[in-house]
Amino acid sequence: MRLSPGAQMPPRLPLAELHCHIEGAASPRLVAELGDLQGIDVSDIVADNRFVWHDFSTFLGAYDRVAAVFREPEHYRLLAREHLTGLAAQGAIYAEIFISPDHAESAGLAPADYVAGLAAGLRDAEEDTGILARMIVVGIRHLGPDAVERAARFAVDLRHPLVTGFGLAGDERAGRPADFARAFDTAREAGLGLTAHAGEFCGPEAIAETLRALRPSRLGHGVRAVEDVALVRRIAQEGVTLEICPGSNLALGVYPGAAGHPLRALARAGCRVTVSSDDPTFFATDLAAEYGFAATQGFSEGERIGLTRTAIEAAFIDAQTRGRLEERLTLAALTLGAPGSKP
Ligand code: ADE
Ligand code: ZN
Repeated sequence: MRLSPGAQMPPRLPLAELHCHIEGAASPRLVAELGDLQGIDVSDIVADNRFVWHDFSTFLGAYDRVAAVFREPEHYRLLAREHLTGLAAQGAIYAEIFISPDHAESAGLAPADYVAGLAAGLRDAEEDTGILARMIVVGIRHLGPDAVERAARFAVDLRHPLVTGFGLAGDERAGRPADFARAFDTAREAGLGLTAHAGEFCGPEAIAETLRALRPSRLGHGVRAVEDVALVRRIAQEGVTLEICPGSNLALGVYPGAAGHPLRALARAGCRVTVSSDDPTFFATDLAAEYGFAATQGFSEGERIGLTRTAIEAAFIDAQTRGRLEERLTLAALTLGAPGSKP
């Protein structure tokens, strides 16, 4: 099952996104154009203006191929600008993007140039629309602990003002959380915010192990915590924020249908939940559709504003930026006549 992107939501509901892989937001059109321009054949992964993949493993393979057409800082500037102006048009006031120095390097682009190109796109989008954005460097788990440590070192040494977090992405089924503890220690000591994918393809034990070994303040997905009542209670009590991506979960078959998705149940149990699009152009979704999904699960307008409030509370930003965003959110909520509440 897929969500339908588009205009299910009133246009000015203020939105925020914490979990989106930047190459997973590239439009098939842009990928085909860059492929043509550089003589890179992408005909097997772009067909009928869609990306071709069949399951999580083939998705990760298609993702790598898409990333390989972005070879210049200007390509990433264009991608970030398109992505963020698109989000702003849906009502987003804040967004974080996951960026992967390993993907840049595989395409022959120096990671520092990758970040410079993306940062230019972030600034363009802010000038065009007012949307604020930050970058989270991710290590790719299935490349192994050494690669993940190199990614953490890169994020720390770069000291870029728009790189404010470190995360773990890639195939959750590879390695054990403790294998990545050194990378997380490096990032934590440098003051970066921490998030890790867990509980999408692996179950509650993997989530508990991730929390123990890596101590992130946020979990990418984390939805399968719902299978363990004690773990749900712990996530709620400790205030760990869940970056929930319903459209991704449905497209990848983590849940067979909307009715079985645990977004509402986790919110009801007191967990701090947010919604995000993950890889929107692969999963035929967008952020407005994710908020629309929350509405279909019974989240009132005030509760949907609460999703944005939680995202801003959990964002990897300084206190002044958080204050500015909270003001914008409060103003937007008042305009809508809905002050915003937690589910
Ligand atoms: N890399 C890009 N998209 C991803 C996802 N949905 N899960 C894990 N790693 C990813
Ligand atoms: Zn993800």
